[in-house]
Amino acid sequence: MRKQIVAGNWKMNNDSQQTKDLLTEILTKKPQNTTAKIVVAPTFVNLESAVNKTAGSNVIVAAQNMHQAENGAYTGEVSVSMLKSIKVNTVILGHSERRAYFGETNSLLAEKVNTALKHNLTIIFCFGEELADRQSGNHFNVVESQLKEGLFHISENQWPNVVLAYEPVWAIGTGETASPEQAQEMHNFIRTLIKENVSADVAENTSILYGGSVKPDNAKEIFSKPDVDGGLIGGASLKADDFLAIVNAI
Ligand code: G3P
Repeated sequence: MRKQIVAGNWKMNNDSQQTKDLLTEILTKKPQNTTAKIVVAPTFVNLESAVNKTAGSNVIVAAQNMHQAENGAYTGEVSVSMLKSIKVNTVILGHSERRAYFGETNSLLAEKVNTALKHNLTIIFCFGEELADRQSGNHFNVVESQLKEGLFHISENQWPNVVLAYEPVWAIGTGETASPEQAQEMHNFIRTLIKENVSADVAENTSILYGGSVKPDNAKEIFSKPDVDGGLIGGASLKADDFLAIVNAI
């Protein structure tokens, strides 16, 4: 049974007090009987506070990024050992905003994947096409390249540490959600790619999340699709009631 996951990518939002307040609300209001794994990803400066706040709960704290090097002269960066030292064992890699604004390439992401898996982190690996790719019918090729060049080099026994997040760039922050059918079509394509390039077992057991304008009013239909195993949520994760409504849609 694949893990059903709802992860909130807070991006560059919430200061120290806002982080505590939002987590208090999520912890207080979250359903006790949900089958979903709940993940929150605050910014670096609030990670340790979030880990302390969620201690003893089933809410997992993830980082939004990490550097590929173990340590060194990389001003402003954060290493895997720093994350592990504050009990953060999950990291989002390859978000389209990092690819776009910080020039993260498939080959750089392959290095980040290697470092994260070497230290047994769970990675939420993001990928997805631009609007122009979809309009030209090239979206499957783009997604295939992102996966093959950024992730498919890992060994089969490393896949249990991998969660995939398909996030069509044209749906991120735009309110223009992929239709449930579009999400299912791409997720099924991705699962077939894994089956053909890794194994049927890995394909069956790897969680593939959808991200891109998931909201309380569209989550249930998107999550109902057989190859959608949850969501990576941006804007709607910043309001406890909206985020938990999406958790309840699993
Ligand atoms: O990582 C999730 C994020 O990119 C989706 O953002 O605001 O469209 O839910 P949003």
